Amino acid sequence: MNKTIIVSNRLPLQVSIQENSLEISPSVGGLATGMKSVHSEGKGIWVGWSGIPENELSPELSQKVQQEIRKEKCVSVPLDNQDIEEYYEGFSNRALWPLFHYFMEYTNFEQQEWEAYKRVNEKFAKVVIDNLDDGDTVWVHDYQLLLLPQLIKDQKPNTTIGFFLHIPFPSYEIFRTFPWRQEILKGMLGSDLLGFHTYDYERHFLSSIKRILRLDVNFNEINYHDRMIKVDSFPMGIDYDKYRNAALKHHSDSLEKSDLRKRLEEHMIEDKKLILSIDRMDYTKGIPTRIKAFEFFLDTYPEYKEKVRLVMLAVPSRSNVPQYQKLKRETDELVGRINGKFATVSWTPIWYFYRSLPFEDLIDLYISSDVALITPIRDGMNLVAKEYVATRTQGNGVLVLSEMAGASKEMNEALLINPNSYEDFALNLKRALTMPLKEQETRMKFLQKRLKRYDVEKWANEFFKSLEETKQVRNTTITKKLAGDYEKDLIRDFQSKEKKLLLLDYDGTLVGFKDNPQDAAPDEALFQLLDQLQEKATLVLISGRDRDTFERWFGNKPYNLVTDHGVWLYQNKEWTALERLRTDWMQSIRPILETFRDSTPGTFIETKKYSLAWHYRTADPELAKIRTMELNTVLTSMVANNGLSILQGKKVIEIKSSNVNKGRVISRLLTQENYDSITVIGDDWTDEYMFEEAPEHAYTIKVGFTKTKAKYQIKDPEQVRELLQKLV
Ligand code: ADP
Ligand code: G6P
Repeated sequence: MNKTIIVSNRLPLQVSIQENSLEISPSVGGLATGMKSVHSEGKGIWVGWSGIPENELSPELSQKVQQEIRKEKCVSVPLDNQDIEEYYEGFSNRALWPLFHYFMEYTNFEQQEWEAYKRVNEKFAKVVIDNLDDGDTVWVHDYQLLLLPQLIKDQKPNTTIGFFLHIPFPSYEIFRTFPWRQEILKGMLGSDLLGFHTYDYERHFLSSIKRILRLDVNFNEINYHDRMIKVDSFPMGIDYDKYRNAALKHHSDSLEKSDLRKRLEEHMIEDKKLILSIDRMDYTKGIPTRIKAFEFFLDTYPEYKEKVRLVMLAVPSRSNVPQYQKLKRETDELVGRINGKFATVSWTPIWYFYRSLPFEDLIDLYISSDVALITPIRDGMNLVAKEYVATRTQGNGVLVLSEMAGASKEMNEALLINPNSYEDFALNLKRALTMPLKEQETRMKFLQKRLKRYDVEKWANEFFKSLEETKQVRNTTITKKLAGDYEKDLIRDFQSKEKKLLLLDYDGTLVGFKDNPQDAAPDEALFQLLDQLQEKATLVLISGRDRDTFERWFGNKPYNLVTDHGVWLYQNKEWTALERLRTDWMQSIRPILETFRDSTPGTFIETKKYSLAWHYRTADPELAKIRTMELNTVLTSMVANNGLSILQGKKVIEIKSSNVNKGRVISRLLTQENYDSITVIGDDWTDEYMFEEAPEHAYTIKVGFTKTKAKYQIKDPEQVRELLQKLV
């Protein structure tokens, strides 16, 4: 039975030594808490670090750790003190974490830590490979293991590997500052599928892939060596029922009340409103800014003094990293100062806890709070926001959420704020505290419905479904490689037949891509090859290039030319115009529109014969304004070079096929002559039109190993030229 191996730096459990015996506690952080449900239900194993330095363990204790961990279907990767210092605290949390969260001033690049990062990623690869059987799937998680996919692929090329990034992927302008940017991207590209929380992170990643590695990207597929890699967004959900059921149990009388619960209830009797914030103690979470904004709120609306209380729970995190120590000091001071400034005999405005809490206490906090204040400066997703919503089984409660959290993309019924604006903060906190119950319930209902539908199980299933598809594409690609018998048949056919048609795309097929398109002019060897082919067959060069360029390069040659993706045909020294429409791009664009429809109430998708339209006329205008901008950005990067155009109508965004394609040309040429041998070679999306239109007996050949309708695939322009040489 094939299994799935989950790999992440941290296991869902943490081992520590208390008085010479092992203590095991659950890990905090979105990755561990979210993936825990996926892991416990599946048949696989989880590979990661136990949280304890290996060199501090005696051989007996080390074995005991492994045994304990095994019971939980986990396998540990032994890390020593130096690894932890240089790879975990160093490279992962002083270079990658701040940079990916746009905290450039905190980013520290050290060569020695980079070496440690490589070394530890290799340690992980070893443990994974030791536990890997043929047919297993590997799912790698997060920024600590960006090199791992390629390390595994190098040794086990047939293994299907998925990767998910739990933090933001920064924009190209930020990412390019990274000294080892190429190595990091190449490491990630060992995966068959790369997942991100939002379209924006996905878009940023693809932009870096195009600009830094200069790879070909078609929609969300990357052509890399002879592999096709898929990139997609999968917003992570929570185990909705677990949180909801726990809340229901806490509301019922069946459970004995904890001390915390009793304290919280006393508070409710006092008729004060509880405002809750829960985070790891991390500078990305905006804790000091939140405290200062809370001060601004109390100064601006003094009527709330003694009427509200902020319960601020911060769980200790990465406390050996200097920036985290600084943050802790700053937070302690701020809480002290604000409490000192406002406190009365019977009231302190902030209750501050710096510790991890058991699950049951978290639930008590969630169900007792009138408002959740989740205001990170930058956050990949933020599961706390989702957990709060899931526990509001009575339908009341208000979520105030930062726009900078990935979760805000799916939670627009929350009060979304810019966490850096004190005014925005204070205004929305007041709005939350005074929101009529009816409105609270309506908003909660929408949020809960969506969270229930897209829970963590659905998230993992969608990821696996997509990963499985990449496996199928890989299998068909292997069987389509043009070599051996296939190639012999083609050559024999070409040489023995009378009326031959040879359709060749230009860029990416006959010549490789150049930074400057003018540098890809035909070379002397190519002219010679084409001249020879022209004598044996009807030769057509078919390209997205403009007419003037092709006329300049080939105007005095007897070849047939097609330019501008099929707008112009040059035959017998004369140019004629062609046109036609297609719809198969819809399957790539529709899921994007569906995500936008789902996250923007009041919008819908219209499917027309040759276009898709997203209508937003009944959506909230403010939200629609943000969403249209986002959708435009996502679409613009996708439609480029794919023969599509975006139309901005009145309260509608429409995507339509541009009026031309290369397939039309084939139909036209076939009416002119009865060819008994047809060969079509092309490399990109626009050439798919030709592959589709070509008759059954044609040889259709795709350059590169991405998904295609062509019957055969070949590696690169060099191999194309070798093949053509064999024909003549
Ligand atoms: P991050 O992944 O950056 O830590 P998330 O909000 O996505 O942020 O995930 C945090 C997870 O850790 C949540 O599942 C939350 O319930 C849990 N958590 C946060 N604070 C505590 C705490 N003090 N005690 C126990 N669990 C906590
Ligand atoms: C975030 C990261 C996780 C990490 C968690 C806790 O959620 O995305 O990879 O595990 O924070 O941080 P820690 O450094 O304690 O593992």
